[in-house]
Amino acid sequence: MSRLLRLSVIPVVAVLAAAGVAFAPSAHAQATRYEAETAACEGTIDSNYSGFSGSGFCNPPNRVGAGVQFTVQAGSPGTFTLGVKYANGTGVNRPAVLSVNGTVVQSAVAFEPTGAWRHWGITTASVPVQSGTNTIRLAAVTADGLANIDYLDVARAGSSTLPASFQWSSTDQLIAPKPDATHNIVSVKDPSVVYHNGRYHVFVSVVNTNQSYSLAYLNFADWSQADDAQLHFLDTTAIGTGYKAAPQVFYFAPQQRWYLIYQVGNNVAYSTTTDIGNPRSWSAPTRFYSGTPQIVLDNMGNGQWLDFWIICDTVNCHMYSSDDNGQLYRAQTTVANFPNRFSTPIIAMQDSNKFWLFEGANVYRLGAANEYLLLVEAIGEGRRMFRSWTAPSASGPWTPLADTKENPFARHNNVTHTGTRWTNDYSHGEMIRSGIDQNLVISPCDLQFLYQGMNPNSTGPYNLLPWRLGLLRQTNSRC
Ligand code: GCU
Ligand code: CA
Repeated sequence: MSRLLRLSVIPVVAVLAAAGVAFAPSAHAQATRYEAETAACEGTIDSNYSGFSGSGFCNPPNRVGAGVQFTVQAGSPGTFTLGVKYANGTGVNRPAVLSVNGTVVQSAVAFEPTGAWRHWGITTASVPVQSGTNTIRLAAVTADGLANIDYLDVARAGSSTLPASFQWSSTDQLIAPKPDATHNIVSVKDPSVVYHNGRYHVFVSVVNTNQSYSLAYLNFADWSQADDAQLHFLDTTAIGTGYKAAPQVFYFAPQQRWYLIYQVGNNVAYSTTTDIGNPRSWSAPTRFYSGTPQIVLDNMGNGQWLDFWIICDTVNCHMYSSDDNGQLYRAQTTVANFPNRFSTPIIAMQDSNKFWLFEGANVYRLGAANEYLLLVEAIGEGRRMFRSWTAPSASGPWTPLADTKENPFARHNNVTHTGTRWTNDYSHGEMIRSGIDQNLVISPCDLQFLYQGMNPNSTGPYNLLPWRLGLLRQTNSRC
């Protein structure tokens, strides 16, 4: 989920912002980007580390108070979510005072180490704005100065097409493992699903008694038939044997073919087919990267690089991934270049508690609105759950929606069961989409989420846990 390439296509909004055209982000508008080289940078505009956007980044001097100030337009008063792209190649946080129109909003916004000056991350914050012109200033708290600052993205927070909290009803277990003579599997997990030509097509990870992961596929017309569907083991196809896990499937319309994206140990790979219903038709794996990118190696600690997720807008394809160590990464390429030339990932979101931003990220576009939904799996008190954010573009900046234990996207406290409560874990899965293509559109009404759960009394090593699939149906739809 890595090679460093300057992005050849600059989003239109960024070009216009750089040209000094003022934009006023409103509900569901695009995020607006302000490049640091067009802001008031109390230092130099440098370009000696790759991975920046525009023509350079602001390098403020190493002293207390040194900073960078952006002039940002707002059409009306409200709250903006800020996404600041930065690099901090040192080993320590470089906190900043964040002020808006001269008033301190946050006294120490964290700019945690990114591992190297050519490795970039995003810090987010929420600020009040007034109608018209606003100054947004970041100033160094310590004598180390600020991080190097590449740009500021701003988006208006609030007024989501989704409700601010969620209620769900879960089915019983719908899909259980079906071992055969050569696949002694103990679980089905990590589902990806599309509904196409009257059938659900579901791709899953399966794990055997030797704790080995591989992929499998099933299709069926209705959930009531899901558990009777034949499980096709994809290790007997060109996808091959060896570690494979966490599939994602979508139809890439520009090339008129299906893509299956999955983990292959320290890398991410894809296979393609023109016939999703024929499991033998997938191509052999092709890796996206030459190896695990350095930024991931620098940040993953004892975690691993995993759970790759691709969503495209009209210009770019974005690849999200996690490291089980508190980082959510995002890389990008153009739709025209897909599946090649994905950039070095940046850290799209970070949490010092790795369990709170753990893995299993999904991003969807919400209907026709220019609104995107991000889900990330967390572990709260030992149980799997999902947190959620929204943004006006597939790349953020992400505003919290339902992201706490008290108000989660999905957790045992907002899920009832139609039968026995067979699980307390709501783990790795995906929404039922309204389309099949690379835009990953879901309807904001009557959400449904296919997930992995397990008997709450299960114990033992993680890889032998008895995961099964169930379906959450939203019971508090707004529409
Ligand atoms: C290095 C690095 C700069 C950075 C500076 C700092 O000199 O090359 O890009 O700004 O460290 O510590 O702030
Ligand atoms: Ca500096």
